[in-house]
Amino acid sequence: MKLVQATNGSSTLSLRDVEKTYVMGSEEVHALRGVSLEVGRNEYVAIMGPSGSGKSTLMNVIGCLDVPSKGTYCLEGQMVADMSESQLAEIRNLRIGFVFQTFNLIPRANVFHNVELPLIYGGVRRAERRERAAEAIEQVGLADRMKHKPSELSGGQRQRVAVARALVFNPSILLADEPTGNLDSKTGDEIMGMFDELHDSGQTIIVVTHEDYIAKHASRTIRLMDGLIESDTVKAGSNAAKAGSDTVKARNISVKTENDAVKVEAVS
Ligand SMILES: Nc1ncnc2c1ncn2[C@@H]1O[C@H](COP(=O)(O)OP(=O)(O)OP(=O)(O)O)[C@@H](O)[C@H]1O
Ligand SMILES: [Mg+2]
Repeated sequence: MKLVQATNGSSTLSLRDVEKTYVMGSEEVHALRGVSLEVGRNEYVAIMGPSGSGKSTLMNVIGCLDVPSKGTYCLEGQMVADMSESQLAEIRNLRIGFVFQTFNLIPRANVFHNVELPLIYGGVRRAERRERAAEAIEQVGLADRMKHKPSELSGGQRQRVAVARALVFNPSILLADEPTGNLDSKTGDEIMGMFDELHDSGQTIIVVTHEDYIAKHASRTIRLMDGLIESDTVKAGSNAAKAGSDTVKARNISVKTENDAVKVEAVS
């Protein structure tokens, strides 16, 4: 299987002191308490941390599904806070590809229709939709399952459909929140193998995971704890280690080589 991903411009995201507070009646939940983070184009980032540490909240902010309560978020040079609702909808549909733990496919629609759906929302004409959806389905190796409904597929195949749907617009960033959480380790590895190929062909990927063996696929691991970044570690020799160190230096952060990894620490 060959995955080919178009690279579309510079896809850097930058969060500065991002906080997210949920108000629940008289109580406030501080899901993010001041997160600053830069991700460069073609980085492959794993986000880890205990349950409730803010991983999904951070992904929702990055994916423009939710807005920060405080702080700023700049996506490809544009401040997200300044965008209109229709601009945000366009970004969610065209520039961010989402993959979720629970696949989130439409049960009554077949594989083809599930993948085609973002193109319908995006106003793409029928002939082009057919071509692009078929291509994305082929990329994930499911050309022989186009007419199957999600219930007629294995878990791994369902997640492949979700990946095809996420990729159908050649998004700048692929966001995956525990994409292997409902899969056995072998099937999870297959999905991660697909992510590796996408990364090799230029895709920027951010993946949330609880599993070390999944995080190992990424070239950088960010650990969250109680809504804050606890550590940010870049694998030695990776693109992120070469290019990313410039960005992190600019944020008063030191980059050290430790064993086989580059450790990034805040300098106060
Ligand atoms: N919509 C919401 N309303 C209120 N509180 C929320 C909401 N979403 C998340 N929270 C709270 O924010 C905190 C962070 O939640 P989040 O879902 O980001 O955690 P997580 O790191 O993804 O956890 P998990 O590993 O269990 O998925 C939790 O305390 C959670 O209860
Ligand atoms: Mg979560």
